Amino acid sequence: MRVFSGIQPTGIIHIGNLFGAIRNWILLQNHCECIFCIVNYHAITLPKKPEELKKQTYKMVAILLAAGIDPKKSILFIQSEVKEHTELCWILNTITKIPELERMTQFKEKAKEHKEDVNVGLFDYPILMAADILLYNIDIVPVGEDQKQHVELARTLARRFNKIFGETFKIPTASIQEDAGRIMGLDNPLKKMSKSAKSSLNYIAIDDSPQQIREKIKKAVTDSGKEIKKTPQKPAISNLLNIYSLSSGKEISTIEDEFKNSGYKEFKEKLALVLIEFLLPLQKKVRKIEKDQKYIKKVLAEGRRKAQEIAKDTIKEVKEKVGLV
Ligand code: TYM
Repeated sequence: MRVFSGIQPTGIIHIGNLFGAIRNWILLQNHCECIFCIVNYHAITLPKKPEELKKQTYKMVAILLAAGIDPKKSILFIQSEVKEHTELCWILNTITKIPELERMTQFKEKAKEHKEDVNVGLFDYPILMAADILLYNIDIVPVGEDQKQHVELARTLARRFNKIFGETFKIPTASIQEDAGRIMGLDNPLKKMSKSAKSSLNYIAIDDSPQQIREKIKKAVTDSGKEIKKTPQKPAISNLLNIYSLSSGKEISTIEDEFKNSGYKEFKEKLALVLIEFLLPLQKKVRKIEKDQKYIKKVLAEGRRKAQEIAKDTIKEVKEKVGLV
C-alpha cells in the first residue's frame, strides 16, 4: 500500500494538524510505503513573505521529524523541488471543469476571507493537490475531514483521465481518523480548529508556551450545565474531552469517570497540564533538530531524489498518453 499526504509550511501548526493528520502518518509508515510532502506551492496561494516561507518550510520539516516521521521509512520532501507536480497540475487543469472548483468549500471560505486576494492559484489549489496524489499512484491519503472534498476531486480526475486517455492512475482513498478528523476551535466548537482563525484563542499551536496553553484552555468556550460528558448536546466539552484523550492516550470514558465529581474549572486545569506534558518533549525535539540544518538538508535531498524517481515515470507515461511527447 502506498500512502501520500501533504502539509502547508505555515507558521502555525496546531494540535488539529497533529492529531488529525500527522499522528496517522506516523502509524502508517510502519506498514506502508509513505510519501510526505511540504506543500510550499500551496502555501503561496495566500500572500507570504519569502524569508518567512523559507524559514517555515524548514521548521515544518523539523516538526515532522520530531513528531516521529522516520526518513528511513518514509519519503519526506518539498513540493517545489519536484517539478513534475506543476507539470501534472497543468495537464489536469485541462480536464477539470470550472464549476467543479467553484463548488469547493475551502475555496469559497478562503475567497470570502481574503476578498481582495482571490488569485487563480487559490482557485486551482485542489488540482495541484490532485496532481500531488496522482503522481505517486497512491492507495491511501491520510487527511483531516476538511480535505475530503479535495481527495474526492482527485478521484474524479483520475477516473476521467483514465477514461479519456486509457488506464493510468490508481483511484486513491481518503483515510480520516474517526476520533481526530475534525478537532474543533477552542473559541467556537462548531467550527474546525484553524491556523487562519482570527484569534489565537482558537487553537493550541505546537510551540505554544505552558503559559499560553493554560490561558487558552482557561478561556476555551464551554457548554451550559456542569457535567463532563461527551454528547452532541455538549460540543465544547466533547471537543475538550477528545483533546484530553488524544494527548493523554486515555479512553474518553475513563476521563469522564475521573471527572464525574469535578467542575469545568478543575477539568480544564488538568487538561492544560496534560497538553503541556504532551507538547514539551516535542518542542524540545524540534529545537534540537532545528539546530542541525545539515541533517534537515540531507533528509530533504534524499526525499527529493526518491520522490522524483517515481514522479518522472508517471509524468512520462502521462505525457505519452496525452500526445505531448
Ligand atoms: P493543511 O496544511 O491545511 O493541514 C494539514 C493536515 O491537517 C489536517 N487538519 C485537521 N485535522 C483535524 N482537525 C483540524 N481542525 C484540522 N485542521 C487541519 C488537514 O486535513 C490536513 O490533513 N491541502 C492540504 C495539503 C495538501 C495535501 C496534498 C494533503 C496538499 N497536497 C495531497 C493530502 C494530499 C492542506 O492544506 O493541509
